[in-house]
Parts: sequence; structure tokens; C-alpha cells
Amino acid sequence: MAKKLYIKTFGCQMNEYDSDRMADVLAAEGIEKTDFPEEADVILFNTCSVREKAQEKVFHDLGRVRHLKLQKPDLVIGVGGCVASQEGTAIVERAPFVDIVFGPQTLHRLPQLIRERRASGRPQVDTSFPELEKFDRLTPAYVRMEKLPPATGRPEPGTANDAEPRSGELPSPPPVGRGLGGGQSPSAFVSVMEGCSKYCTFCIVPYTRGEEVSRPVGDVLAEIAGLAGQGVKEVTLLGQNVNAYRGALPDGEADFALLLECVHELPGIERIRYTTSHPREMAQRLIDVYARLPKLVSHLHLPVQSGSDRILAAMKRGYTALEYKSIVRRLRAARPDISMSTDFIVGFPGESAADFEASMKLIEEVGFDASFSFVYSPRPGTPAAELADDTPHELKIERLMRLQKRIEEQALAISEGMVGSVQRVLVEGPSKKDAGELAGRTDNNRIVNFAGRPRLTGSFADVTITAAMPHSLRGEIVTREP
Ligand code: SAM
Ligand code: F3S
Repeated sequence: MAKKLYIKTFGCQMNEYDSDRMADVLAAEGIEKTDFPEEADVILFNTCSVREKAQEKVFHDLGRVRHLKLQKPDLVIGVGGCVASQEGTAIVERAPFVDIVFGPQTLHRLPQLIRERRASGRPQVDTSFPELEKFDRLTPAYVRMEKLPPATGRPEPGTANDAEPRSGELPSPPPVGRGLGGGQSPSAFVSVMEGCSKYCTFCIVPYTRGEEVSRPVGDVLAEIAGLAGQGVKEVTLLGQNVNAYRGALPDGEADFALLLECVHELPGIERIRYTTSHPREMAQRLIDVYARLPKLVSHLHLPVQSGSDRILAAMKRGYTALEYKSIVRRLRAARPDISMSTDFIVGFPGESAADFEASMKLIEEVGFDASFSFVYSPRPGTPAAELADDTPHELKIERLMRLQKRIEEQALAISEGMVGSVQRVLVEGPSKKDAGELAGRTDNNRIVNFAGRPRLTGSFADVTITAAMPHSLRGEIVTREP
């Protein structure tokens, strides 16, 4: 019987992406995914250490699968992701039943680590940062989508594939579109860079994921062209600081603006998103592409963290609130309908009432329509963890609630303003609320539920917005003359 893999993912979209890649490398070894840890031969936790709660949850969850080893002594339990990277061998010391510990950059070595664990009888730890090796070893996304059996065209790990351009070369046109298979999504994530070199004083990521490293332009374009050939219409370019992208070209280097222009040229790709970006990397060249590239969505997630210059300086963010607003003003000059979402940290050490009010003021001024906002969580080893922090936790929670409420009110007002408009949505499949209906996503990342034929899945449809709910919209498909 085929061996089974159970993965639990914590944290960001990068981790979701990495978990899918873990499943890919183990699928190539004949290990299939299961939703039930009791059935699994390999259990992996892909962890996040951005905030303390997520980190502690991992040890709690590890304790819950420990007993499974009694029934299945060969069971392999692994910890990957940022907690693994940060703690390394300390994980095995705290939880000796853990067999393998691997970092975000060594997930492609999973089969080898499992083999070495079995052969040696000792836990294996590999949390090194071998730069782009991970991407060189992973199967390109469009090959994954084809679900080819390993013997029919999938290159051996680490060998060159003549059908594909090598690093730095531009790809040939995409293969002829074969359309999406049943159940496949019309949108896909493509990781274009990894790591972060910004070292914000509160953040653990540069230490757990390493410095910024970009994939060559040719590799990224080849992957997206292949996805388009499979019927994918929307790509989200991923990176911890995606707009810090500096990818190799045969004759130099491309910045993120140039990468977007290249992706825009690929036939079949009709919508482009990216996340997450850093305000310091919003160069004028990148802002200017919003005026030229219609496939680029009118939505940008640009983390600000605080509206107070004093706090921004203490965070080492490298911009002021005025500079942030200047970016938004220039973006809106290039793309008047662009909607902005952001990240806020509430209760950074030393945040005064006036500092918090500066964040509330910025929310009004920019008109953010969504945010990921959390109370500051001290991360051991980061500079901010050493700062005095005398704001009571209850006050921080109170501030967070106020901030979230205001952004939700603004989001609802923006949704209400969309009622009566016609929106182009990419139909993703049956609605979660009513399987008899369809759900699609607008340019500004809102879910629209509407009645329509299932065969519309995977294509764009024009929908008139009829009602705004707190977290979704209702719509009616625009009927066209035959
Ligand atoms: N590139 C992004 C940027 O420009 O800020 C950040 C990516 S970071 C991994 C994701 C988010 O986690 C940050 O924007 C921040 O709001 C949050 N975060 C990071 N460290 C945190 C901490 N110590 N406490 C609370 N939130 C934190
Ligand atoms: Fe973290 Fe700041 Fe980088 S929030 S991921 S160090 S931009």
C-alpha cells in the first residue's frame, strides 16, 4: 500500500507554497497526501515563528502526534519552516521523538533526510541556506499540474532538461494550451525570490529564511509560460519582499518592474498579482508600470506597520508616514482605482497614545480596505526584544480592536461603493456558501458569489455587483447578446 504524508502548515502564503513543494518531492517518492495524521507514515509541521503564539502551537501539536509512534514505530515526524530554522537541534532536544528538522531552503532534501534517518537511526537536522538549490531541484509548476508519472518526462532531480531554458535564458513560447483539468484552479502562485535583507528590528524572518535571493528571469518566465499552457490565467508572484527582486538576465539583471513587464507579455496570463512588497522597494519605475500594464491588478498589499515616524524609525523601516503616503499618491496618479491593503503592528515597545493615533490617522488618509494586524510579539534574538515595553497588554488589545474595526468599516464602505458596478471576476469554482452558485474574485481581491454555469470555472466573467456583505459581494452575471 502507498505510504501516506500528512502536512500541517502554519503562517504565510510562502509557507503554503513550500508545503505544496514538500508534498511534490515526496509524491515523487510514491508518498501520497492524506488529511488524517493517524493514517500517515510521514507527518510534517511547516512552522512559522513570526509571532510567539504560532511558535508555541507547534510544540503543542507535536505532543498530540507523539503517541502515534507507539502504534507505528517507523512513523517519521518532521519539523520544517521558520521555527525549525531558528531552533535547529534544540527541537530534537525538547521533543526527542522528532526525526527530521529542515529549513525553508532545504525542503527539497526531504527524501534524503528521511533515508538518512532510517539508515542511521538518529534524528537528522539540516537548516542551512543553500541559496537557489531548492528551485533548481523542484519540479516546475506546469509539470506538477500535468501530474505526469515520474518516468514520462519529469527530469531527474538535478539534471538539465533540454526542453527548458537554463537559468538566465528567456523561455520559448508556452506549449499549446490544453485547458485546465477538473478541479484545477485558474490561478497559481510562483515564488520569484526568497528571504529578506531588511532586518526590521521586530522581525525574525531574515534570520530564519536568510538574505534576499532572486530566481533568474528565464526560470520564472519558463514556469509561468508553462502554467499558462495548462490554462492558468492568473499568477501571484511570491516573495517575502517580492519587489526587492533582482533576477539574472543573460546580459545583466532585471528589477521587479522589468519582471512584471516580461510576465505581462506572456500569452494566456490575463491577471498578475504579487505579494508581499516593501515600501522601500516601491521605486518610481515600479509605480510607473501601473499606468502601462493593464493585467496588473488594481490592488496592492503594501505593509506600513505604523503611522508614527518615531515608531517607524525604531522599527528600522526606512521610510516616514509622509513617504508612504507619497507612494500611495503616485500609485493613484498612475492607477486611480487602486485599492490598498497593509500590515500593522500594534503596541510596538514604547508606542504612545499619540503614536497609535498617528496609525489611525494614516488609515483614514490612505483609505486602506484590508489589513493583517497583530499585537507586537517579542522575538528572541531581534533588537526590539531588548527594548523596554511598559504598555499594558490589555491596552494593546484595545488599540488593535479599534484599528481593526475602523479598517473593516472602510472595507465595507468600499464594497458598498462597488454595488451597481460591473466587475471582471476570475471564476474559481463553486461558492463556499452555496455549492449551486459560483464564486469569483475581483481585481481588488473580493469574493463575489453569483448564479452561473459551472463551465464558467477558470474563465473571466463580467458580473454586476448587487449587494455588499462584510466579507464578500453578491452579483449577477452580465448577459451578453448571442
Ligand atoms: N515584507 C513585509 C514588509 O514589508 O513588512 C513583511 C513580511 S513579514 C514576514 C509579515 C508580517 O508579519 C509583517 O508585515 C508584520 O506586520 C508581521 N510581524 C513580523 N514580526 C512581527 C512581530 N514580532 N510581532 C507582530 N507582528 C510581526
Ligand atoms: Fe520582516 Fe521587515 Fe523583512 S517585516 S520579512 S524584516 S521587511
